[in-house]
Amino acid sequence: MLRLKIQYKYKMKCVDCGHVTPDFWTWFDQNQMCPKCGSKHSEVWYRRNYNKLQRLMKSTPDSLWHYFPFLPLLRKRHIISKYEGAAPIERWSFLEAFAKEKYNLNLEVFAYRNDLNGGTGTFKDIAASLAASIFKEIGLKQYCIASTGNSATAYARYLSEADVNCSVFMPEDVIRTSEATISSYGQQVFKVLGDYAKAKEIAAGYAKSYNIPMSTGNIDPIRIEAKKTMVFEMLRQNGKLPDVYIQAISGGTGPLAIDKGVRELHEIMPDLKNPRFIMVQADGCDPMVQAWEKSEAADFPEGWEKDFPIINNPKTAVPTLATGNPATYPIIAKLVKSTNGAFIRMKESKLVSVGKLIAYEQKVIPGPASAVCVAGFFNALEKGLIKNGESVMVNIGEGANRAPLFLEQMIYTTREVENVEQCEPHEINGFKEELWEEVTANV
Ligand SMILES: Cc1ncc(COP(=O)(O)O)c(C=O)c1O
Ligand SMILES: [Zn+2]
Repeated sequence: MLRLKIQYKYKMKCVDCGHVTPDFWTWFDQNQMCPKCGSKHSEVWYRRNYNKLQRLMKSTPDSLWHYFPFLPLLRKRHIISKYEGAAPIERWSFLEAFAKEKYNLNLEVFAYRNDLNGGTGTFKDIAASLAASIFKEIGLKQYCIASTGNSATAYARYLSEADVNCSVFMPEDVIRTSEATISSYGQQVFKVLGDYAKAKEIAAGYAKSYNIPMSTGNIDPIRIEAKKTMVFEMLRQNGKLPDVYIQAISGGTGPLAIDKGVRELHEIMPDLKNPRFIMVQADGCDPMVQAWEKSEAADFPEGWEKDFPIINNPKTAVPTLATGNPATYPIIAKLVKSTNGAFIRMKESKLVSVGKLIAYEQKVIPGPASAVCVAGFFNALEKGLIKNGESVMVNIGEGANRAPLFLEQMIYTTREVENVEQCEPHEINGFKEELWEEVTANV
């Protein structure tokens, strides 16, 4: 690896014992773990004046790299970027109108349009951009990752751009488009006969046999550092964090990263606090929701966060979110509880209906994981988890390009015809009632 002797921009601190790792060269030399206590959970901290960040938030980014002073890269020439991390936050008034009409709630509802990221069109692009740039800087040439789809797709693209070989381990039910995309970039796909847990297991064995670094998953400091910039962007675009943040959850990098961003900003914004995290899982793979409901019913007994089920070979329409063994639950559940948040489920049978509704009302075609998130908004309303006057953000993490078969299921206006007599003009408003009915019946 190329090596730079000393740098003062950032340091890494072990969350469990406080041991300091000076840089990413050393971090990878140490097999991405703390040499003192063995923990894989270290966080990056910067020797920087945070007033600079406030200045940066006054101008418009064209990518994540707008925040370069607060990212763990030393030289700008190593940046690998495809216009990721500059995703707009939109106000979705059709959801506000619904909350008002059905629940008499005055809400501000924002959608974080992470489907518009430049690399592969998901909210995984920012992490992949940072990873590729760091790997270029430290001279890493081989890497591997186990993923349910979107992370691997993003890493495959960005690492290709950085000239890094990326071996990808995917479960057998992976969406074919993800597999095809990764393969088309020339990166190696290993399709593991089994579920995501099995893919992780084989990837770990491969990493060990060939001494190739592997992504450490949801607590990976590279992923966290990239995704914390969502906090910077929410503040820059909206001037505040939302009261409620809704996201489809698989392993939970999203909420962990938001929490990290909030803590990092304490120096200049001591009153800043996490939004209430409402984490959504589809009923085909909902171990975190099951664990949460059990603990909630028992009033969160001592050690509750360590009690979670493992779902082997989950059968789900959203393989992108299929973490059946949620190893990070103990950390994420405590974080969610500390914000008075919740884990809730949505019915997979509603996915296509929610997708159709978003496309019809907002002209944004979501991917299935985004439909899970918006279904979570409807379910949170029904459960009384959102209060009058609050602002809510739904994270639209992917678009339809990630799952073409999902999009195909959204066909509903087609009429097969053989002659002109069978054709007549339509009234677009005529679809409205039926689409809403599909979504709101039996949530
Ligand atoms: C579009 C989308 N939304 C949400 C998630 C869940 O992300 P996490 O649980 O890591 O925060 C993923 C993860 O694969 C995703 O691709
Ligand atoms: Zn340690």
